[in-house]
Amino acid sequence: MRRLSRFLALMLAVVLAGCTKPDFSDAEKTTIASLALSSLPALKPDTTNRFADVPAAAALGSTLFFDQGMSGDGSISCSTCHKIDRQFQDDLPRAVGVGRT
Ligand code: HEC
Repeated sequence: MRRLSRFLALMLAVVLAGCTKPDFSDAEKTTIASLALSSLPALKPDTTNRFADVPAAAALGSTLFFDQGMSGDGSISCSTCHKIDRQFQDDLPRAVGVGRT
């Protein structure tokens, strides 16, 4: 019985440890911060795309990116899945669009 109690206490500790936020070291936090999009240097001019730095082209791309009219039923845009405040992803294991595959 005592062994069972110890085992259950250990299992509870393991489960609770898994529920807490990871405790990153300062070095790990520095590494993680270095991977943020905002820490990247400014883009160099793109010599393979003559429209890359044309503001009107960027505006068109932005309009299309947020345009739900691009989807079959008018409910989904690129930004539905590529969330700009989530590093252009949606936190889901599988994307959900008009339908699910
Ligand atoms: C239903 C959700 C969904 C919608 C809507 C969507 N995407 Fe995606 N997109 C994804 C997923 C999921 C991936 C990753 C696929 C993979 O890695 O296999 C992806 C990948 C990409 C990639 C490649 C990224 C890389 O790192 O290689 C680009 C570029 C992209 N999408 C652009 C777009 C554009 C532009 C639109 C709108 C016209 C759009 N997506 C609409 C879910 C979506």
